[in-house]
Amino acid sequence: MDKNLLEIIFDNLYNGIYVVDGRGVTIGVNKTFEEMSGFTNAELVGRSLYDLVGKDNYFSGSASLLVLERQCPVTATYSTSTNRKLLVKGRPIFNLAGEIDYVINTIWDLTVVQYSHRIDSDTARSKLLSEDDIVTCSDKMMEIIDLALRVAATDSTILLNGESGVGKSLLARTIHRSSERKGKALMQINCAAIPENLIESELFGYEGGAFTGADHRGKAGLLEMAEGGTVFLDEISELPLHLQSKLLNVIQEKSFLRVGGRVVQHADFRLIAATNKDLAELVSHGLFREDLYYRLHVVPITIPPLRERREDIPTLIQHFVEKYNRKYNSYKKFSESLINQFVTMTWKGNIRELENLVERCIVTTVGDFITPDKVRIPGLQTTITPGVGLKEMLADREREILLQIQEQYGTSRRVAAVLGISQASAARKLKHIKVSKKN
Ligand SMILES: Nc1ncnc2c1ncn2[C@@H]1O[C@H](COP(=O)(O)OP(=O)(O)OP(=O)(O)O)[C@@H](O)[C@H]1O
Ligand SMILES: [Mg+2]
Repeated sequence: MDKNLLEIIFDNLYNGIYVVDGRGVTIGVNKTFEEMSGFTNAELVGRSLYDLVGKDNYFSGSASLLVLERQCPVTATYSTSTNRKLLVKGRPIFNLAGEIDYVINTIWDLTVVQYSHRIDSDTARSKLLSEDDIVTCSDKMMEIIDLALRVAATDSTILLNGESGVGKSLLARTIHRSSERKGKALMQINCAAIPENLIESELFGYEGGAFTGADHRGKAGLLEMAEGGTVFLDEISELPLHLQSKLLNVIQEKSFLRVGGRVVQHADFRLIAATNKDLAELVSHGLFREDLYYRLHVVPITIPPLRERREDIPTLIQHFVEKYNRKYNSYKKFSESLINQFVTMTWKGNIRELENLVERCIVTTVGDFITPDKVRIPGLQTTITPGVGLKEMLADREREILLQIQEQYGTSRRVAAVLGISQASAARKLKHIKVSKKN
């Protein structure tokens, strides 16, 4: 294709594009990215992401650096200094020698127009949701995010299924943010956390004098507050049966009454429900209404537990280490052997457990380099394994030191200078590590 035409296409894509080389140096961005980020191509070209991330208000994080670090495609969401929320998919382009020549990032804008609904204190549990980041490099998860973004554009009801801590709430927020309803409220209620007798009025609201103790002015419920936006019903399996039929009615009639009310309220919201239970199983035991189940089951999305996508663990560790380094103003790194041990752990609490453990490691360890022997986690062994010779242990340690210094300083020239070895030797050792990492 003609080069001029390619440039025209590049600048006229709806997605932002950000291209870096194998060292993380910016090759170029398109016009859409300039508009999304507020930075120009001219000021970014030639600058290394190692310098742009976390400094001078450029970027809060970088999918490219995660791609270069992990040598695999990565999907991540980030906030810009101008308070925009971006979804970034980074894809490595390998050369024949198996090294990364370029990382091509495709970027979607998920910015929510800030919604400022005042919520009174007794609805504090049904809170307005805040922003956060999704990171993944697993094919399964990327397919799930793709599916979620495709259905986000429609008004379909979505049922999120998955164990505790896999990221259901996070995905619900991302779906809302990338939907047409992003300018309106996202209201969440956790059906398991609210006493049964309060769920009805929380959801539907009530008229003055509807029941003893009710505010005489009445109160809007969650469905009303979500007008034009999204309702997220977490742990839907815990919704009492009589409210299940009421909810089904709302979905079918697109209207409802406040408790004790006579004025028909128009229902205009998208419904996202989440559960860590097998709803079909509950239906077969008569514990969940079958008709509601089919209404919710329009687009089911199952998020796999972390142990079924272990390839995500190193990328998530990296992401949380960066997050908590920023929070605690530290510069800590995980050693390769600690990362490898995390990869083999069970993670019953999934990503929430991983995140908590990374934070604990950052807060409780002394020194910037976190090795397994510094971390007291039941079931996690130290690096000293009987039968492993001194030579192997030293080689392991050398690998960790080189990787850490390379992560901090980037080029083999700087690594050599820091360690007091020749550049040729540093380059040779780093190359050796890269080759053995791939095998
Ligand atoms: N892919 C991801 N990248 C980054 N952070 C993630 C990812 N998935 C989950 N998290 C983080 O892990 C924590 C748990 O996620 P979340 O609350 O969405 O899980 P959940 O499935 O809703 O859990 P529960 O069933 O307990 O409600 C959150 O802090 C979330 O930000
Ligand atoms: Mg949740």
